[in-house]
Amino acid sequence: MIVTPLQPERIGEVLHLMELGEPYIFARTLSDYWLYATLFSSTCPVAVADDDTVAGAVMAFRSQDDPADVYVQDVMTHPRHRRRGIARALLESVRARADTWGCRRLYLTSEPDNQEAHASWIALGFVNVPGDREIHGVSVVSDFKGLGRHRAVYQLTLD
Ligand SMILES: CC(C)(COP(=O)(O)OP(=O)(O)OC[C@H]1O[C@@H](n2cnc3c(N)ncnc32)[C@H](O)[C@@H]1OP(=O)(O)O)[C@@H](O)C(=O)NCCC(=O)NCCS
Repeated sequence: MIVTPLQPERIGEVLHLMELGEPYIFARTLSDYWLYATLFSSTCPVAVADDDTVAGAVMAFRSQDDPADVYVQDVMTHPRHRRRGIARALLESVRARADTWGCRRLYLTSEPDNQEAHASWIALGFVNVPGDREIHGVSVVSDFKGLGRHRAVYQLTLD
């Protein structure tokens, strides 16, 4: 398995991979993935398996409003490849890039009931940011992404 920046040649495959992430991830459009591959590839790594298929992908972006922040939008591992360290390797790649920029924080959100994601973020050193309510033992920020769009927020502070 290798981790490599998203290239335009892979965007169809990445879109199909993301389609497998429902109900927690929904594929974005080919135009969106073209944008990520063309303007943000260094924080949008894909994991390519030995058979040259895409086994996982992360879409993340450095904030222009607060350049100390990198926001991780989607983390997806193909169901056949889970629990083999792919999300770990992909997020480590984003972290390494953020380190070279001197960023201070990676952060992401997930749905309050996404227990696999919660377990992963905690195992990978992220902290569940205290919110204003608790759902299934997960701290949640109400309306984080707009009215009724409550999210569990996680962050990893960079040294
Ligand atoms: C969450 C997700 C990305 C994890 O990907 P992964 O490649 O399987 O994760 P890793 O193998 O790198 O796991 C890293 C650690 O997280 C923890 N972890 C991962 N999946 C877990 C699970 N299902 N249950 C408990 N702990 C889990 C483990 O501690 C694991 O380390 P270990 O296997 O050495 O014990 C994957 O389950 C997925 O794609 N889910 C569907 C899409 C999704 O919900 N994405 C997040 C939306 S924000």
